[in-house]
This record gives sequence, C-alpha cells and structure tokens, in this order.
Amino acid sequence: MTLTVFVLGLFAVTHAQHVCAVQWVERAASAASSFAGETTSAVFPVPNATNAASEYDSFFPDASAVGFAGPTPTGDEAELIATATSFPKVTDALPLVNPSTFGETNSSEPFDVLHSLGNLSPMFSVDTFGLDNANMLIPQGCELTQVHLLHRHGARYPTSGSLPAAFATKLHNTTINGTGFTATGNLTFLNTWTYRLGAEILTPFGRQQLFDLGVSFRVKYGELLKDFTGLPVFRTTSEERMVQSALNFAAGFFGIPDYQTNYRQVITIENDGFNNSLAVNCANQDKPEIGGIGSAAASKWRDVYLQDALARLAPQIEGVNLTTNDLLSMQELCAYEAVALGYSAFCDLFTEEEWKGFNYLLDLEFWYGSGPGNPTTAAVGIGYVQELIARLTQTPIAVHNTSTNATITDSNITFPLDQPIFVDASHDTDISAIVVAMNFTSLNANGPLPTDHIPGNQTYFSNRIAPFATQLVGQVMICPSSSSSSPQQNENEKQIRWLLNDAVLPLTGIAGCPEDANGLCPLDTFVSAMQTRLAEVDFAFDCTGNYTVPDPDLITDGRPPADQRPSSSSV
Ligand SMILES: *[C@@H]1O[C@H](CO)[C@@H](O)[C@H](O)[C@H]1NC(C)=O
Ligand SMILES: *[C@@H]1O[C@H](CO)[C@@H](O)[C@H](O)[C@H]1NC(C)=O
Ligand SMILES: *[C@@H]1O[C@H](CO)[C@@H](O)[C@H](O)[C@H]1NC(C)=O
Ligand SMILES: *[C@@H]1O[C@H](CO)[C@@H](O)[C@H](O)[C@H]1NC(C)=O
Ligand SMILES: *[C@@H]1O[C@H](CO)[C@@H](O)[C@H](O)[C@H]1NC(C)=O
Ligand SMILES: *[C@@H]1O[C@H](CO)[C@@H](O)[C@H](O)[C@H]1NC(C)=O
Ligand SMILES: *[C@@H]1O[C@H](CO)[C@@H](O)[C@H](O)[C@H]1NC(C)=O
Ligand SMILES: *[C@@H]1O[C@H](CO)[C@@H](O)[C@H](O)[C@H]1NC(C)=O
Ligand SMILES: *[C@@H]1O[C@H](CO)[C@@H](O)[C@H](O)[C@H]1NC(C)=O
Ligand SMILES: *[C@@H]1O[C@H](CO)[C@@H](O)[C@H](O)[C@H]1NC(C)=O
Ligand SMILES: *[C@@H]1O[C@H](CO)[C@@H](O)[C@H](O)[C@H]1NC(C)=O
Ligand SMILES: *[C@@H]1O[C@H](CO)[C@@H](O)[C@H](O)[C@H]1NC(C)=O
Repeated sequence: MTLTVFVLGLFAVTHAQHVCAVQWVERAASAASSFAGETTSAVFPVPNATNAASEYDSFFPDASAVGFAGPTPTGDEAELIATATSFPKVTDALPLVNPSTFGETNSSEPFDVLHSLGNLSPMFSVDTFGLDNANMLIPQGCELTQVHLLHRHGARYPTSGSLPAAFATKLHNTTINGTGFTATGNLTFLNTWTYRLGAEILTPFGRQQLFDLGVSFRVKYGELLKDFTGLPVFRTTSEERMVQSALNFAAGFFGIPDYQTNYRQVITIENDGFNNSLAVNCANQDKPEIGGIGSAAASKWRDVYLQDALARLAPQIEGVNLTTNDLLSMQELCAYEAVALGYSAFCDLFTEEEWKGFNYLLDLEFWYGSGPGNPTTAAVGIGYVQELIARLTQTPIAVHNTSTNATITDSNITFPLDQPIFVDASHDTDISAIVVAMNFTSLNANGPLPTDHIPGNQTYFSNRIAPFATQLVGQVMICPSSSSSSPQQNENEKQIRWLLNDAVLPLTGIAGCPEDANGLCPLDTFVSAMQTRLAEVDFAFDCTGNYTVPDPDLITDGRPPADQRPSSSSV
C-alpha cells in the first residue's frame, strides 16, 4: 500500500510493511571505525546456534516431562475493581531511565520527559478528565457485569520512513564523500553515536507494557472469567507488533503457558484493501490535502518552539547545518531510544519548555491528523462503534457499510456478542478516531489548537488519548437507578461508563447521558446515542467522497464541512 506518511511520519498508518531499517554498515564489519550516524543492528540468537539443534532436545525435557511440580491449588479470581478501597496507578516506566532535561528545571511543578512525548509516551494513569470525585473502582452498590478493553500496542521502534532514521542518514552522508562532521559541547556524543533502532516492531519495554496490562486486567477483572461459557475470544490485527502485543497481554492475563489454551485469538488482516475496524483504511487520508493537515499544523509549530534550541545547538556542530526538523528528529530519537534502549543522550539536550513544545506538536498532529480537526476521523472510528453496539445489544451487525469485515463479525465464533470481557488491540490513530466517533467531546472542549502558542485552556492531549499501550475501558454494571431518573421505584438498571487510561470520562456531551459524578450513563441511553452516531457518520462519503477543506479550524467534529455533505447524511 502507499506509505501515508506526510512530513513527520510518526504514526501507525503504515499497514503490514515488513521493513528493516536500512543497513548500510553492519556492526561487525565496522566496529573498529564506526562512523557517526551509521546504522547498527544485532541478530539474536546467532544463526544455527549449536545447542538449538533438535539432537539437544533430550537434554532439556520440559516441565511436564520432568514432573515434580509440587502442590498446585488455584486461588479464587481477583476483582480489585470491586473489592479494593484504593486503586493502583501507572506513574513510572521502569526499567527505563527517567530522562533529565537541559537547563533549569521548574521545581514548582513535577515534570517528566517520558510523559511529555505525546503519542510516543508510555501510557501513564491520567489524574482526571474533570470528574474529580470519580475513580476506576466500581461505585458502591453497583455490580460489574461486563468490561470492554480497547488498547494500543506497546512501545515500538519508529515506523518506516520516519524522522529518526533520516537524521542518522543525514549525519552519515557527511562521511561518504566528505570528511564528516565535528560535534562539540553538548553534542559531543554525536561523534560516536550510531543508529541502533529497528522499525515497526515492539521493543522489550513495549512487550512488558502489554504483559503488565494483562496482569493488571486479571487482577482488576478476573472475577468476570467465571461468567464465560466458552473460551474468551480476543482480537488483534496482523502486524507483528499487534500480534506480539496481544500475545503478551494474554501471557500476563492467563499466564504462561496457559494462554496457549485458555483463549482464542482473532488476527484480522491489516493491509491496503482490507476492511478492518481496528486498523482502518480510509482512502481520503491518502490525499495530502486531507492526510497532511496534521503534519502541516505540526510543522508550523515546530518552527516556533524550536528556534531557541536551534540557536543554542547549531553552533555546537560543524559540517552539518542543523534545522528545526533535525531538532525535532532528535526529540523523537530521545523518545524512541528511551523506550528501546532504556536511555537516550538526546533527551538531555532540550529544556522543559522544549519538551512541552514537543508534546504539543504531537497534540497538533493528532487533533488535525486523526482527531476532531480532520474530516475523516469520525468515519475511521465508526466501525468500532458499530461493533460495540452489536456487543452491547447482542444484535449482529445488520449492514456492513463502514470498516467492519463481515467474514469476522457475522460469525458468533470469531465475533461472539455475549462475552463478559472483550479485548481488542488497535493503533494510536484508530483509537484517537474512535474517541471522536464515540463523541467523547469533553476531550476537545476548547476547540481547535493554535499553531503559534500552547493555549492555557487546552483539553486535548495526545499523551492521554494515544500513548503506547493506551487503554480505553468500558465498564457495564447494574446499579440501583438514581431516584431522580426513576422516582417511582428502586429498580436496578444497567449503566455504562468509560475510563481512558484509568480516569473516568465525563459522558455529559453524549446525547441523553445525565450529569453523573461517577461518569455513569444508562446503557439504553448510551446505546441510542451510539446508534445516532452510526446513522450520522457517513463512512463512504467521508473516506471516499470528493470534498475540500478550506479551513481546518472549521472542522471540530471529525467530519467534512457540513455544507459539502450529501443531504441524506447531514443530520
Ligand atoms: C545454518 O545451517 C544451514 C543448514 O545446515 C546452512 O545452510 C546455513 O548456511 C547455516 N547458516 C549459517 C549462518 O551458518
Ligand atoms: C514554572 O511553573 C510555574 C507554575 O506552573 C509557572 O507559573 C512558571 O511560568 C514556570 N516557569 C518556568 C521557567 O517554566
Ligand atoms: C543522503 O545522501 C543520499 C545520496 O546523495 C541522498 O539521496 C539522501 O537524500 C541523503 N539523505 C539525507 C537524509 O540527507
Ligand atoms: C557521493 O558522491 C557521488 C558521486 O559524486 C554521488 O553520486 C553521491 O550522491 C554522493 N553521496 C553523498 C551521500 O553525498
Ligand atoms: C551545553 O551548552 C551550554 C550552552 O548552551 C553550555 O553552557 C554548557 O557548558 C554545555 N555543556 C557541555 C557539557 O558542553
Ligand atoms: C475479511 O477477513 C477475512 C478473514 O481475515 C479475509 O479473508 C477477507 O479478505 C476480509 N475481507 C475484507 C473485505 O477485508
Ligand atoms: C551550511 O550552510 C552554509 C551557509 O548557507 C553553506 O555555506 C554550507 O555549505 C552548508 N553546509 C552544509 C554541510 O550543507
Ligand atoms: C467492506 O467494507 C465495504 C465498505 O463499507 C463494504 O461495502 C463491504 O461490504 C465490506 N466487506 C465485508 C466483507 O465486510
Ligand atoms: C453460534 O450460534 C449457533 C446457532 O445459534 C449455535 O448453535 C452455536 O453454538 C454458536 N456457537 C458459538 C461458538 O457460540
Ligand atoms: C482557548 O484559548 C484560546 C487562546 O489560546 C482562545 O483563542 C480560545 O477562544 C479559548 N477557547 C475557549 C473555549 O475558551
Ligand atoms: C455529540 O456531542 C455533541 C457535543 O457534546 C452533542 O451536541 C451531540 O448531541 C452529541 N451527539 C450524540 C449522538 O451523542
Ligand atoms: C472534485 O470536486 C472538484 C470541485 O467540485 C472538481 O473540480 C473535481 O473534478 C472533482 N474531482 C473528482 C475526482 O471528482
């Protein structure tokens, strides 16, 4: 498929590209004379490792052959979410080194570089989306009946063709016909720096994120496993990092080696030309004037917030003329080296303000590229909404007119509707679209983001919506109906609420949902709002129609301008 990466190329929109980083110098061949910027990689295990041969198998019997496992009584399922009085939060990213920043730090306010990397941040628990008295624990008196988890893959290497590798090439190019470059001062490390990142696949830390999520989900929601009548069916997509994320989640959730027999994994095809609600193809995104809106906004801001850094760092290297794009590449290198190698010398080059600037650049990229400011966003997210309605109402999908794949979702084997636990793996750009399709408008309350400053009233943050291993959780529960909504009786009713990275989302923007301190909305009300969304978002037109975007700031609902929509769909 066409590589849909405009300028910045930070996203997961490249489908099924099995790509290795360009390797023009092998480590072994050049260890003695390493040129800065060269690409190095490793292969493990060594090809034809001696003791890997099958003749050695008998020396290493497996646990069942060895026997003597000791007593193995199982305990009861955990359900922290309903039994605990306080709750765990993800605040750090061990074993990664917490990066320091350049210059004075602002001690009045804690600052964490790893939380300021936009969608490249490892997931951390969000404090609040405005419901300050709500938390992830099931409210008193309510009984949890079902949970829906939509998560992103864990930390990965850069996607193919993105900035970090190009920066390494730029440095390395100086050594090919010329005499190279000389870095001094803060940049001295560049003289011996080599590019050690792969592409696309999970890093070891990324594996850990999903394993940890699996463990955490078992501790919080394990009790629901008792309600399964068959094996759980979870979904992911075919890209290597997606499969690996799903398997690591399962290893954490079910245990090793139990995960191999305790559930069924659906792996949907992620590639050009395939319907996939978790990795959506939307043709209009291949048009630069639509797919490139996010990068265009980000580039404007890049040239604002990196000027001081350019003035500071450019004089510290000779033989290379640094640009703001190079500095952005270096900030990305910090992000990627940190999650891949545990430490990055690039992080220390930038001030706290510059890290805030980087974080904001990614907010711009998401708002305008795969958020409320892009006309394709609601369409990209609506397929998951359609599937969610099917699950919440236990009614198969009637018409396939979005990104859903009938082969998968019309079958009760691959798409059971009645599970107590649903787990789907997806990508940053798809999840950021799904929250728009679901109409979680509190996330974008204060409108379009400016490209010349960071607004004080910002509510849209890509590090909360789409970090590595981001987690959107729907909790379905039965609660005593509130006296105000049904004064006549104390009948129980089904409610739903949503948590994004551990914080409860207000649902008050969703049609009919009442204000509720715990973020609850009656299930029927929520479902009919989602049905309204499904009826009003026109996948065919938004993804393949011919429309123009005269001013991106006029788009705040992830749909084409209202006056250009076909009349049948402009509800
Ligand atoms: C590994 O073993 C295979 C089969 O014996 C052989 O063809 C191949 O050349 C070996 N590769 C290396 C790197 O030694
Ligand atoms: C430090 O943080 C305070 C409180 O957020 C803020 O008012 C101030 O501008 C910050 N100073 C710098 C140098 O960033
Ligand atoms: C490196 O040099 C090659 C050959 O001149 C050129 O095509 C390429 O654009 C250069 N890459 C960068 C990032 O400067
Ligand atoms: C090196 O020089 C050759 C011959 O002039 C040219 O084709 C090539 O693009 C140059 N490479 C770089 C990286 O500058
Ligand atoms: C880094 O750069 C600053 C000036 O921008 C300078 O004061 C400082 O000494 C440099 N650090 C090193 C290790 O050269
Ligand atoms: C739907 O999924 C099935 C199973 O992965 C696949 O064979 C088929 O090609 C897909 N269809 C479309 C239209 O994507
Ligand atoms: C850097 O810019 C200067 C001034 O424009 C120019 O003379 C020089 O050739 C450039 N150096 C490189 C490596 O591009
Ligand atoms: C794939 O999506 C298109 C567009 O929504 C739809 O017309 C088609 O029926 C879908 N195919 C399958 C197999 O679901
Ligand atoms: C699917 O539905 C059919 C017909 O209702 C039923 O017989 C079958 O057991 C179901 N299969 C699963 C895996 O739920
Ligand atoms: C948010 O702040 C920006 C200035 O940064 C302003 O233009 C905008 O009107 C504000 N939005 C709201 C809803 O207050
Ligand atoms: C979507 O959100 C907007 C703004 O909160 C609201 O006016 C509209 O009614 C919502 N639509 C649905 C179907 O929830
Ligand atoms: C799209 O619409 C524009 C303006 O109405 C028109 O000029 C153009 O030919 C159309 N393109 C296609 C592919 O229909």
